[in-house]
Amino acid sequence: MAKVLYPGSFDPVHLGHLDVIDQALELFGHVVVAAMHNPSKPSGLFDLEERLAMLEAAVAPRRAEGDGRRVDVISFAGLAVDAARSESVDFIVKGLRTSGDFEVEQQMAQTNRAAAGVRTVYLPCNPALSFISSRFVREIAHYGGDVSGMVPEQVLAHLRRASGR
Ligand code: PNS
Repeated sequence: MAKVLYPGSFDPVHLGHLDVIDQALELFGHVVVAAMHNPSKPSGLFDLEERLAMLEAAVAPRRAEGDGRRVDVISFAGLAVDAARSESVDFIVKGLRTSGDFEVEQQMAQTNRAAAGVRTVYLPCNPALSFISSRFVREIAHYGGDVSGMVPEQVLAHLRRASGR
């Protein structure tokens, strides 16, 4: 069993994220999901508190399974490597959807290892979910489109409220 950190913006959490959490739980046993304050993404929709609440609601069914696996949810303002250190995780996990993700993630992983000795493991996401992105979820919900196949049910009400519908 290993303890891993899964950092992200989660603005909002979607089914692709939950697939990565499920894979990480199955493989490693203990996952700390960290909603990061991300100053490079000022165009976000939900504040950190609401992103955290949506994550808590989305992972609650996993906690109820009582199979010895553990999922925690935290928020963190700072570097992912500092969150990794303060949570004493073995490594960071990231989901990969596309080659575009790989380009970005590879540079972050190499930087985090070079600067702080923290390693990253990539998990390829379920191909049936690989088209989902928080950005498009926000955009579709803003214009009243249907995102019910892309996000956990608990997130739908938050999106409706945020888009004033
Ligand atoms: O869900 P996202 O937006 O793709 O997640 C990106 C995130 C938040 C994981 C990344 O931007 C991050 O780790 N931010 C924290 C700041 C940090 O560690 N920066 C140095 C990266 S090498």
